Amino acid sequence: MSCAGLILAAGEGTRMKSRMAKVLHTVCGKPMICWVVEALEDLRSRGLVDRILVVTGRDAERVEEAVGSGAVFVRQEERRGTAHAVMQAADLLEEELLLVVTGDSPLIRPGTLAELFRVHRETDAWVTLLTARLEDPTGYGRIIRDLQGAVVGVVEEGDANPEERAIKEVNTSTYLFLWERLREVLPRIRPDNAKGEFYLTDAVRLMAEAGGVISTVEAADPTEVLGINDRLHLAQAERIMRERILRRLMEEGVTVEDPATAYVGPEVKVGRDTTIRPFVILEGKTVIGEDCLVGPGVRIVDSVLGKGVRVEQAVLRECVVEDGVSIGPFASLRPGTHLMEGSKIGTFVETKKTVVGRGSKIPHLSYMGDAHIGSNVNVGAGSITCNYDGVSKHPTVIEDDAFIGSDTMFIAPVRVGRGAVTGAGSAISQDVPPGALGIERSRQRNIPGWRNKKSEVGDGTEGDNQEKVDDIQR
Ligand code: UD1
Ligand code: CA
Repeated sequence: MSCAGLILAAGEGTRMKSRMAKVLHTVCGKPMICWVVEALEDLRSRGLVDRILVVTGRDAERVEEAVGSGAVFVRQEERRGTAHAVMQAADLLEEELLLVVTGDSPLIRPGTLAELFRVHRETDAWVTLLTARLEDPTGYGRIIRDLQGAVVGVVEEGDANPEERAIKEVNTSTYLFLWERLREVLPRIRPDNAKGEFYLTDAVRLMAEAGGVISTVEAADPTEVLGINDRLHLAQAERIMRERILRRLMEEGVTVEDPATAYVGPEVKVGRDTTIRPFVILEGKTVIGEDCLVGPGVRIVDSVLGKGVRVEQAVLRECVVEDGVSIGPFASLRPGTHLMEGSKIGTFVETKKTVVGRGSKIPHLSYMGDAHIGSNVNVGAGSITCNYDGVSKHPTVIEDDAFIGSDTMFIAPVRVGRGAVTGAGSAISQDVPPGALGIERSRQRNIPGWRNKKSEVGDGTEGDNQEKVDDIQR
């Protein structure tokens, strides 16, 4: 049977108290609507769903942009309830089955949805509901069954009597309908409830009254059907999704020392025998190789790390790091940093748009921006590129085997030739030829007896010292 997947995502999300539509809020870095779309795309790849439709309303354009081109969009201009949302799509629907899911349930798994299809077929149902048994059913619609156990309806919390409120079996708002049967009952739904909305849940009662078969599938894992209505739910979903991601990594052979403080995005890949130490955030399209030691205190965004990389207390953004590199503690590696095999970035080092060649080291207190550093270069402590003149950025090139004295300033554009040396404390503004020493330093003068003079002459005030300094300069 052909099937359309319909995601309800038009709602106001009032309980989020946000300036943004609820379904745009992210779970593990991805808007919740996108998690739901992904689950349906999985069903599409299994041949269970033919088309994906999304009902949008609040922030419609942004929601549509987040979802992208894989879905058909239906606008619900006025938000008058979940049944009203489905009605907006009625004219577009031509499939025999309609799978309805809400955009605020990002934890739903494709396998669970597939189970709905199986039961639906087996029981010849008009509708198959995904239900869950919750210790605390607060906020959900309750499943009402007759004495024989057949579903006769769903009652929303606001309309439920105390007896109904005690029911722990809840509606997850995930339904597989025979579209023809739903189409028949939709016009009979009335907004005669506490909220004054057209409730899709009423379709269940109307179908039961008409003698249709109402089937249910109970979610094996009740956390999967969490509907996010407020920020508390959002944090719960974040934690559950995070645990899922970490579990997958661990199953793939990654050690996670402290899952409570490891944050790994859904698209991140981590190689075998890599250890993620406490307080690590891996985001975006980051890829980490095998045998790495990451953390503690590391944030990596959209970067690629090779094998055997060690990184501690550092932030990396859009970087490429080759095998065997060591980074940190306390390093900030900004976009365009490329660290070649076996290189080392030490303590309090910042890089930007910089290539560090094989085996080269920048061990302490340096800033390298727009620099191209060859292999086996040692950059002494405190060396920096003066790459920005206030108008534009200029390159610094340091060729292979150069030895950079501590506190060298590279007044870019400038080039240090292969095997050249710079004297400590030099401001290098001219190219240094290969093998040469570039040194730029005024001669040191020592003033004998300075300290004694200071205590003998005058009353030791600043003015006295200034006189002496003037003396020396003359
Ligand atoms: C709904 C169900 C409830 C169920 C719960 C599960 C109804 C009446 N109630 O309640 O039985 O236990 O989900 O999470 O269906 N939406 C629209 N247009 C609208 C209203 C809502 O597109 O006019 C969308 C929202 O964006 C949201 C979804 O429908 O993604 C559900 O709406 P929400 O207001 O969260 O329903 P609940 O009160 O949670
Ligand atoms: Ca909800």
